[in-house]
Amino acid sequence: MNRTALVTGGTRGIGEAISTALKGAGYNVVANYAGNDEAAEEFKNRTGIPVYKFDVSDFDSCKESVSRIESEHGRVEVLVNNAGITRDATLHKMAFENWNDVVQTNLSSCFNMCRAVIEGMRETGFGRIVNIGSINGQAGQYGQVNYAAAKSGIHGFTKALGQEGAAKGITVNAIAPGYIATDMVRAVPEKVLEKIVARIPVGRLGEASEIARGVVFLASDNAGFITGSTLSINGGQHMY
Ligand code: CAA
Repeated sequence: MNRTALVTGGTRGIGEAISTALKGAGYNVVANYAGNDEAAEEFKNRTGIPVYKFDVSDFDSCKESVSRIESEHGRVEVLVNNAGITRDATLHKMAFENWNDVVQTNLSSCFNMCRAVIEGMRETGFGRIVNIGSINGQAGQYGQVNYAAAKSGIHGFTKALGQEGAAKGITVNAIAPGYIATDMVRAVPEKVLEKIVARIPVGRLGEASEIARGVVFLASDNAGFITGSTLSINGGQHMY
């Protein structure tokens, strides 16, 4: 039977590419989304991938939704924590809500989702968790104390849970994307983005599919000896 894979933020941007790549690799994929009903409906009709609307920053809602997904699609064996938001501003202009929303959505979501699937994975003795971090969690970024702290937290979370899961057949890895051509990156002011792209040795933004291929690899049986690691996919912008 095909393995069930759950991708948070899985209907748009990098998440959409991950969902479709996992489906292409034979997984029974389920995609979560939080707000954009229209995009999710269009995604579902186009790809045939079922979508579930819930807020990954809400612990109880993650627990209930995972339980519903598992009763409808079988135990989640692959979890991709991809959902994330930006609320960029320099610290001296940043509202508490912009700190809190980003930390809850980008980092606490990893706890909420992993907590909801981990007991099942431990029982079956198999699991693949891939957390989407960021180059800006590795290197920091002007205007992103919230995002950089949350993404950096994901990298620590990954190493700690990697140690806990290893003996139970559960691998936990992170991917740290660089600047990828998505709506999130297109929202960066043009002049700022031009300067960033000029610092990417490969000379272009990345494609979402280039991140998705990394996820498919880390989710596969071939990656069973890789855990607690971070795969940087950033066109050489930051060599960590
Ligand atoms: N390093 C040093 N100084 C910088 C800087 C940088 N990277 N970026 C801007 N500055 C300077 C500017 O030159 C400017 O200086 P002057 O006043 O002397 O000219 C000053 O900071 C203020 O800059 P802004 O006019 O841009 O200030 P603002 O308050 O309007 O906006 C900002 C600040 C919101 C941070 C804006 O610069 C911005 O959006 N930056 C992009 C942040 C970014 O890269 N976000 C990534 C989003 S994509 C993502 O996060 C995905 C991923 O994982 C990679």
